[in-house]
Amino acid sequence: MAKVIRNLLSRSSSALPPLKFPDLRFHVNCSFSTSASKTPKNKVKKLKKSNNNNNSSVIINQSKLKLSQVKRRTRSEKELDEETFMKMYGNDNSVHVPVLLGEILDVFTSLTLRSFLDCTLGAAGHSSAIIRAHPEMQVYVGLDVDPIAHQLAQSQLRSVIDRDSFDTAAALKVHTFLKNFKDVKSVLGEVEDELLASGVNGILMDLGMSSMQVNDAERGFSVLKNGPLDMRMNPKATLKAEDILNSWPADEVGRVLRDYGEESNWYSLQNRIVKARLHGGLHSTNELVDLIQNSTSRTKGRQGWIKTATRVFQALRIAVNDELKTLEDSIRACFESLSSGGRLAVISFHSLEDRIVKQAFLNIMNCSEVDGGGVEDEEGKRLRELRKINLDTVKEEAWIKQVIQRINGTILTKRPITPSEKEETLNPRSRSAKLRVIQKA
Ligand SMILES: C[S@@+](CC[C@H](N)C(=O)[O-])C[C@H]1O[C@@H](n2cnc3c(N)ncnc32)[C@H](O)[C@@H]1O
Repeated sequence: MAKVIRNLLSRSSSALPPLKFPDLRFHVNCSFSTSASKTPKNKVKKLKKSNNNNNSSVIINQSKLKLSQVKRRTRSEKELDEETFMKMYGNDNSVHVPVLLGEILDVFTSLTLRSFLDCTLGAAGHSSAIIRAHPEMQVYVGLDVDPIAHQLAQSQLRSVIDRDSFDTAAALKVHTFLKNFKDVKSVLGEVEDELLASGVNGILMDLGMSSMQVNDAERGFSVLKNGPLDMRMNPKATLKAEDILNSWPADEVGRVLRDYGEESNWYSLQNRIVKARLHGGLHSTNELVDLIQNSTSRTKGRQGWIKTATRVFQALRIAVNDELKTLEDSIRACFESLSSGGRLAVISFHSLEDRIVKQAFLNIMNCSEVDGGGVEDEEGKRLRELRKINLDTVKEEAWIKQVIQRINGTILTKRPITPSEKEETLNPRSRSAKLRVIQKA
């Protein structure tokens, strides 16, 4: 098994040290969110209006738009061996497959990772592989807000440490916390004052849900499984999805559906949800799905209502867990917690999250959105000359394509990295994943 996993992960990571991998069958993966930005569609509509006498020009403009959409991300070129993947994860949908695992290992390969923080432990799939790839690691910190994930990750990490007999394993201090990543600074302070002062060498945020959460009907995350309308990542939190649906003011319900679900049918859904209160309200995911099915045009078929339901569930989940505000604040806190030269990698699973990650990185760098196809923007070049920062070091890493450099750091992914076609085929849940990485100066 060790050989099999090493083959899978290290095909293009020649820098990986010889590793022992454990049985990774416990890995599960996550996130079915599929919200698409409406901007391109709107642009196409506008183009259609202004070109209504000239069909050929509309076609050209549409294809240009498609091209620019395609360019907005970099598809991973990392090879994934199908046979090995199937041996590890098979067709079992309950297994959490860590998304972009090889790519995440690449992000940290060139660093001496003495300390590492995983903000979203889940089943500790990413963490286990990173710990193995970095025998130099001395302090490991992992957080999850979900007690079930926290417990599972703890036992997984224990077995990784126990099974691996590489020399420094005994020196590795593992700290796990049942905490929200918005508390990252206080958590690091609890571990070691020195860690907070000197900073962490590597940080990972793998957002969204784990497959354990989606597959457990009682958590209420799944469109396809009947359960209570709960959707709390932290079961001790007070707000549940049913509270929003049954007692929030109508316009607040509409705002959630529109802003967090990007659902065009939000107004009609809002009215139906409020009307359902007259008959006792909504208390199960099946009741909510029925309501959505009844308000979705029959002509759109099963795919139509499933897409709407996915957007509605996403919206409620974001509101219940206050995900977007938490993310925005936490990215800055994580960047501030990095050591000099340290890297923060964030995997997001829907456009709202990705926009926040992208903007948070730009805000940290104190620059506005930079567009165009240059490898490095003008300001970056000027700073490089002035400060004699050697960008060539990062460019030697094959996964780094375009960067944005500023005084306080470098965005190593001007365009987000998305899974290879092979990964998307083998793990459909990876489809919407986007990886962005920032390095502190
Ligand atoms: C996609 S899973 C992580 C999977 C993990 N990388 C692996 O390889 O197994 C996301 C995890 O983040 C946790 N999570 C979500 N929001 C969180 C937050 N604000 N603070 C801490 N954990 C959070 C979820 O409970 C879930 O277990």
